[in-house]
Amino acid sequence: MVNDASLTMPYLEPFLNVNMNEALPRIKDPQVHADAIAFIKQESQHYRQHRKYNALLKNQGYPELVAVEHAMDTSFKKLADKSLAFRLAYTVGFETLTLGATEWVVGNRREMFNEADLRVASLILWHLVEETEHKTAAFDVYRDVCGGYFQRVYGLLYASFHMVYWSRQGYIAMLKKDGLWNNIRSRTRLWRRSARALMAFGKHIALGMMPGHDPRHVKDPTWVSDWMERYDAGGDGVPLLNTVTLVDMKAT
Ligand SMILES: [Fe+2]
Ligand SMILES: [Fe+2]
Repeated sequence: MVNDASLTMPYLEPFLNVNMNEALPRIKDPQVHADAIAFIKQESQHYRQHRKYNALLKNQGYPELVAVEHAMDTSFKKLADKSLAFRLAYTVGFETLTLGATEWVVGNRREMFNEADLRVASLILWHLVEETEHKTAAFDVYRDVCGGYFQRVYGLLYASFHMVYWSRQGYIAMLKKDGLWNNIRSRTRLWRRSARALMAFGKHIALGMMPGHDPRHVKDPTWVSDWMERYDAGGDGVPLLNTVTLVDMKAT
């Protein structure tokens, strides 16, 4: 599931950046403008790193993911023809989903990353920390440039179904390749994990649908705030995380 989420990033995040970039000249508030530029810079780093990781996945056993990527590419290219207001609402919607993803992954990090390669765990967790860091950027741009409650809710629901669809195609291909797609134990595990993910995502989708919703009212997970504090405290390079004890180690 996490690998599949990674697979979508080099298609999804450039789409978000195009939308935010197009909105830049229309933003009235200078702080919102500055935050939008910072958002674009962070997302650019995310999809570049995910692209490298996805190349490893494809080259080390899952070449069938190339076909999934092509289909995903076509889907996002179609969305590019929609109005800026819709695409910004989608962007806000996706950013709402990242709060659910953070709650799900960070909350289950010990189980999910138990004995995982620290570099992979760190890639995913670093990305989610930055999603928390810029959680208000797209929302503020939408409010400044277009606003509109119903469009925002439509964007959120559209992004949710769109991402659920694409978040399944890759792992189905990978599980089929591993001969596990029709394995009852594997499928049960998948359902259990999907149910947990659904709870975290569902909570944030429901919050995002509230008329007075503002992501700055959503409390950051303590683990994420701790990560940011440690990072801000300095040191060389990006810290790798020991996901169990939260010990930072210098990247090698
Ligand atoms: Fe991102
Ligand atoms: Fe983001």
